[in-house]
Amino acid sequence: MKHRVYINASINAFRELQSLYPSLDLHFPLESEQGTPEELSREAMKSSAIVTLLSDTINRDFLEKHSHLKVIANFAVGFNNIDTDCAKDFGIPIGNTPNTLTHSTAETALTLLLMLSRKTNFSQRLVKGGHWKKWEPELFNGCDLRGKNFGIIGFGRIGREFSRMAYHLWGANILVYPRSSAQDLKTDFPYKVVSEEEFYLNIDVLSLHCPLTPETKSLINKEFIDNMKRPFFFINTARGQCHNEGDLYNGLRSNQILGVGLDVTDPEPMDKESPLLQRDDVVVLPHIGSATDRTRKEMAKQCLENIQAALESKPLPFPCLKS
Ligand code: DGY
Repeated sequence: MKHRVYINASINAFRELQSLYPSLDLHFPLESEQGTPEELSREAMKSSAIVTLLSDTINRDFLEKHSHLKVIANFAVGFNNIDTDCAKDFGIPIGNTPNTLTHSTAETALTLLLMLSRKTNFSQRLVKGGHWKKWEPELFNGCDLRGKNFGIIGFGRIGREFSRMAYHLWGANILVYPRSSAQDLKTDFPYKVVSEEEFYLNIDVLSLHCPLTPETKSLINKEFIDNMKRPFFFINTARGQCHNEGDLYNGLRSNQILGVGLDVTDPEPMDKESPLLQRDDVVVLPHIGSATDRTRKEMAKQCLENIQAALESKPLPFPCLKS
């Protein structure tokens, strides 16, 4: 018997994998790249399982209306778009895609940091505008990252991968924002979980890798920035709602922040009038942390593995786990 599965975006990686899952009958949005909330709801009504994107809100109303679903597979590692507690009440298992995008997201954080530290916005603007006249010893000088203190908030897979890269590339000192789950992990680089005071005192590069939760919502705000004792680069490849963009802007203007690198914004897309976009010390990417062909394919595979397992009444191989 074939099970109808609705995927709320036209993602080729799923089509390429279809033949490996003959019991799943995959359906996609008919009119656009991503289905509207109405289309998602309508299609979910006819399906046993759905695949959702991080921009699809799966709240109590949705879950109540679609409580027949055997599984929801979120095409992301983050799952703040889904009320997982409520899904549990309705007995709907929720899956995500861990392990698939660890490297690509850490690489994106690294890219943002290098773009800021080597002033690529400014230098590109000059070159493309025809304003670069000659080699000058001090015009484009950036900042060395060797031996800097990296502050990591969220020491899960991505936070650890980014730290590993920073340690091996630059001998970075990795200081982890206090969290007991970060203690005593086996890594191939040294790190230290420090107190908040020690964190604020020492950090040169602050990188966010935490999920969006009530504790991390707007965590990087004026108060946090004022607590930081050194000027620092701020990188966010986690969720835009973990920072306050007005406070980041003010932090740049007061020279408390040296540069802001965002792969995630609040809202997405960022308002094109945002004053952050006017600045050379700000790099904004369109949430491309997981955007590589290999990662997308692995994400699709994990979604289909989750769906197949649930439809066979087996536990999900990749269930959403709260940290
Ligand atoms: C995720 O998976 O949570 C990323 O933000 C998008 O790929």
